Amino acid sequence: MAKAIRVGVLGVGRGAHLGAVAEKVGMELVALCDSIEPKLEQARRRLGGERITTYTDYARFLEHDLDAVIVANYATEHVPAVLQALAAGKHVMSECLAMLTMAEAVQLVEAVEASGRVYFFAENVPFNVQCQEMTRLYSSGVMGDFLYGEAEYIHPGTPQSSATLISGPDHWRAWMPTTYYCTHSMGPVMMVTQTRPVRVNGFVVPYDFKDPMKTGSISRKDMAGILMCTMDTQALVKVMPCATLRDHGYRIRFCCNRGTMEYNQGEPRLRVHHEPFDVGPSQPPNRLYMPEFPEAFKAAASTGHGGADYFCCHYFAKAIREGSAPLIDVYKAIDMTSVGILGYRSALQGGVPIEVPDFRDRDARERYRHDDWSPDPRRRRPGMPWPSVLGDIPIAPESLQSFAELRRRHEAGFSTPVTPPAPPAR
Ligand SMILES: NC(=O)c1ccc[n+]([C@@H]2O[C@H](COP(=O)([O-])OP(=O)(O)OC[C@H]3O[C@@H](n4cnc5c(N)ncnc54)[C@H](O)[C@@H]3O)[C@@H](O)[C@H]2O)c1
Repeated sequence: MAKAIRVGVLGVGRGAHLGAVAEKVGMELVALCDSIEPKLEQARRRLGGERITTYTDYARFLEHDLDAVIVANYATEHVPAVLQALAAGKHVMSECLAMLTMAEAVQLVEAVEASGRVYFFAENVPFNVQCQEMTRLYSSGVMGDFLYGEAEYIHPGTPQSSATLISGPDHWRAWMPTTYYCTHSMGPVMMVTQTRPVRVNGFVVPYDFKDPMKTGSISRKDMAGILMCTMDTQALVKVMPCATLRDHGYRIRFCCNRGTMEYNQGEPRLRVHHEPFDVGPSQPPNRLYMPEFPEAFKAAASTGHGGADYFCCHYFAKAIREGSAPLIDVYKAIDMTSVGILGYRSALQGGVPIEVPDFRDRDARERYRHDDWSPDPRRRRPGMPWPSVLGDIPIAPESLQSFAELRRRHEAGFSTPVTPPAPPAR
């Protein structure tokens, strides 16, 4: 039997879940790293207890006997962590975003190329069962050519629920501009249609001062971003990155020249439509059905995000074992993420078109090598953007106060005892 891939996880929020899923695809979770000790200890107990070594220091964690690292720290700080892991000779699966700035994208692509290690980008939405079925249909040719698409991800939250996800005003979820968290919407478009964006026009629905969901929280970002993307086939796509509108979920739709297919999270069944003049009268124009994972992957369905997380870990492990190209490699990761950064730049200039560079081309990197344009408040200097197109959104003192109380209660939960997991049924 093949030797298990020894994996460690940085960041035990989302990362703890991915560590558990990694074990389902034959990896062995041996180490965890997080700077918050009670949270780290709780994750260790939940995931396996004594057999897992814990670290609060990332450099020391990388000295552990590991083959691979799952990077799930703050979404805006993945690149420094990935570079350190690659330099230490580890394979890396990075959570989204791939990078915060275009200069980081250049650093990332060059570090991955020089390392000879696997870099897998854990964008999971393309692996949900509906997206995998749309990939299958599209690649079979029955839909014809892709012409126009829409993909949106909406995630509203009360001040109470936000306080479980945001640790303070400097946390990325409080300030990341609304166009940035775009890979859950651009990812499925790229993976289903095998296209890449070449141009983006960005637009923003600004912060709503009449919405208590916003004013009662410590979020300083806008309501929604809209990225009109031209793909390399000239197909057009309207992408909405993680937006704080109402009605949580994904909505993904592809219009092709032999039919359409769409998935709306409110209705888990996939809808596929063909015009009678394209397919003849014997075939029903509409099919509404619940797709299934292939037999070999039935176990995936019980893991997170409708099974999608399983496939991230599966394809990461597969690339390591086979020495093959990862399904979502560093070039795709950068394409998926760039539209959010460049789209914000476009929105701040009234929606002007901006070319999306292809970093497979080494010459294309030069223009961006020193482009550290960033909305991170801690890096603020003249010329850097605010989290909102309206500028610096003030946080109401009473919202800050109630946040502090909610957060205190949430953090108290990190120390709550955890019952270790029951051994899996054989
Ligand atoms: N694909 C998905 O469905 C999905 C869902 C949720 C989160 N995510 C992604 O997963 C990542 C983590 O998300 P989260 O919700 O857990 O975020 P989070 O910001 O709540 O947690 C990050 C964790 O990393 C730890 N950390 C940060 N820097 C560290 C350092 N230098 N050393 C040690 N520990 C450090 C923090 O203490 C924290 O526990 C993000 O990139 C996010 O975008 C993806």
